[in-house]
Amino acid sequence: MSQHTFLTLDEVASNLKVTRQTVSKYIQAKELNAVKINKSYRITIKDFENFVNSNSTSQEPSISYLRKTKNCTLQYSDKSDDFEVVHGIFHGELRSLSNNGKLTPNKFIFGDNYFVMKKLLETHRGKVDLIYIDPPFGTGQDFNSIDEHPAYSDKLVDGEFLEFIRKRLFLIRELMSDSGSIYLHIDKKIGHYVKIVMDEVFGYQNFINDITRIKCNPKNFARNAYGNYSDMILYYAKHRDNQIWNDIRESMSEEKRKELFPKNHSKLGYYTTNPIHAPGKTLNGDTGLEWKGLKPPKGRHWRYSREVLDELDEQGLIEWSGNGNPRKIVLAKEHKGFKIQDVWEFKDKGLSYVEYPTQKNHDMLERIIRNSSHYNSIVLDCFAGSGSTLRVADKLGRQWIGIDNSTHSLNVIQKSFKEDNINFELLEYVPLD
Ligand SMILES: C[S@@+](CC[C@H](N)C(=O)[O-])C[C@H]1O[C@@H](n2cnc3c(N)ncnc32)[C@H](O)[C@@H]1O
Repeated sequence: MSQHTFLTLDEVASNLKVTRQTVSKYIQAKELNAVKINKSYRITIKDFENFVNSNSTSQEPSISYLRKTKNCTLQYSDKSDDFEVVHGIFHGELRSLSNNGKLTPNKFIFGDNYFVMKKLLETHRGKVDLIYIDPPFGTGQDFNSIDEHPAYSDKLVDGEFLEFIRKRLFLIRELMSDSGSIYLHIDKKIGHYVKIVMDEVFGYQNFINDITRIKCNPKNFARNAYGNYSDMILYYAKHRDNQIWNDIRESMSEEKRKELFPKNHSKLGYYTTNPIHAPGKTLNGDTGLEWKGLKPPKGRHWRYSREVLDELDEQGLIEWSGNGNPRKIVLAKEHKGFKIQDVWEFKDKGLSYVEYPTQKNHDMLERIIRNSSHYNSIVLDCFAGSGSTLRVADKLGRQWIGIDNSTHSLNVIQKSFKEDNINFELLEYVPLD
């Protein structure tokens, strides 16, 4: 049997929307067939289908997402076992270096995020509401600051790079709260492979958006290609439809206001008007009857009951034209803003304007943090760089944890956070043998 047809315990749990422990119970009760490989269970798609079928009350259990996910699993050499990644034991500790003399839950931890996150599982499993990461992109390059100070090295490529990310995503998933979500920032050369890795770790059904981010001004390439001025942000939840979603809206620009609300009222401000009738005839109801001496036009009905129309008119929210045609006044100040779409323009500043190479746009991070976390939520960035995510999380009253293994990142964060009075505890990961 091909290995494509096997599911992990987590995948079964995620598809059934139950915990790993519940799946283990089904296995122990011999209701669900499983094989034990090394220390972890594997379940064939066939056995999973049999289990779903024998417990299903409907004729056709919906497992189509599962099939799609499994058809897309990436294969490369040295893929580690997810159970081993999460449960394998390393001996190390987080040693506090300073906390600016003030008590704070916010931390920057210097060290390899793999070991640091394994350590954090002891205290923060299931507690992190939001993760934003902007890891290296598998470019094979070294990145320096404007004064040629080495910042970080991005030398892992291809399968090695994907495995580096995949292992960390398993740990992130364990740290995520049940209403948590992750935004992973990546470029378009490797991003589509990372999407499949994320499907594998978080489940295809927990994918929410692939956001195109316009990162710079249009490029005038010499090569025969379209200019590449965007990258991507892959957005997943731990459990789709249970994620924190504050429905932040895009506010209306003055240009849009002029287009949509062109009229001005001395007391009510900018407004437009809409018809008070809609298509479709009411046969017997109130919305088909005469109001203020008018019947709805032929084949139409009043949008509101006549009682509501009376109230609107009393409040001065009906505009009567010169020839006695009523329309409802809609106020610009009551506009709730526009639903945010999946193309965002948040350009990064050039290297000469930032402290750290590949530093990300703070307004973009503000949108993410506002939308996907609450006041006091824990926000994690385990590829912290200059600390952009931590800085914005701090400003918005979130708790935060940053991790990075670059001494340049450590120096930039220490210096700039001190200048801006941002308090945090500084720790480092120390291996113990
Ligand atoms: C693209 S930069 C992040 C930039 C950041 N978003 C900002 O706005 O400044 C990637 C960061 O990941 C860090 N990094 C790479 N591998 C790491 C690892 N194994 N553990 C911790 N940090 C790592 C690098 O040192 C680098 O600072």
